[in-house]
Amino acid sequence: MIRFENIHKIYNMGENEVRALDGITLDIREKEMAAIIGQSGSGKSTCMNIIGCLDVPTEGKYYLNGRDVSDLKDDELAEIRNKTLGFIFQQYNLIPKLNVLENVELPLVYKGVLEKDRIDIAMEVLKKVGIEEKRNSMPSQLSGGQQQRVSIARALAGNPSIILADEPTGALDTKTGQEVLEFMQQLNEEGNTIILITHDMLVAEKAKRIIRISDGKIVEDSGREAAK
Ligand SMILES: Nc1ncnc2c1ncn2[C@@H]1O[C@H](COP(=O)(O)OP(=O)(O)OP(=O)(O)O)[C@@H](O)[C@H]1O
Ligand SMILES: [Mg+2]
Repeated sequence: MIRFENIHKIYNMGENEVRALDGITLDIREKEMAAIIGQSGSGKSTCMNIIGCLDVPTEGKYYLNGRDVSDLKDDELAEIRNKTLGFIFQQYNLIPKLNVLENVELPLVYKGVLEKDRIDIAMEVLKKVGIEEKRNSMPSQLSGGQQQRVSIARALAGNPSIILADEPTGALDTKTGQEVLEFMQQLNEEGNTIILITHDMLVAEKAKRIIRISDGKIVEDSGREAAK
């Protein structure tokens, strides 16, 4: 489903070259729940941005569902994102001027789904995350945990084949963070492929597979044998 072959991402900061990813080879299969962990600056977000087709590698090949997406143009990447990927971020990234229902509908707007169907799908995923009674609220009227649930609903609305979460519990208290993680485990048990990025080992332990990155390289992968 996800295959990285010797992926490099190099940023040129004037004279200084930053090797944010330095030769990553990785396979993540359908229905896996994998955590990518590592210290600040190790390359986790860079890795997620490439997996999520938000950025392309400097070198190496990335195959997503069998398709080479290593050097597509921005509009082609956007199309793949809309069709294939759901994103969950630390700061939720909800649109402040849209209410909960409208936020969840947004990926469906990009997909060209008709309004009536959008509302049905959005209500269904809001029910799934247990927050349908807040459908008319604005994001600013919700707690952090509620906002993260809305952002999970938004990620689910497009029925993505992969859900990517970058520090999804980073802004939440421990208890709310646990609830969000348990919900993500449940989604995985229902057959969703989930990739979780975190620097917190307690969060990572919720995943079946842990991939540790250091200085842009994989230094540990608990699922490597299983993935072969
Ligand atoms: N746009 C950029 N331009 C230049 N350097 C960058 C850019 N984005 C990231 N880097 C560098 O690449 C390296 C990896 O950054 P990245 O954001 O992937 O780390 P991270 O593991 O997500 O860290 P954190 O846990 O702090 O979020 C860092 O040294 C960072 O400074
Ligand atoms: Mg990061």
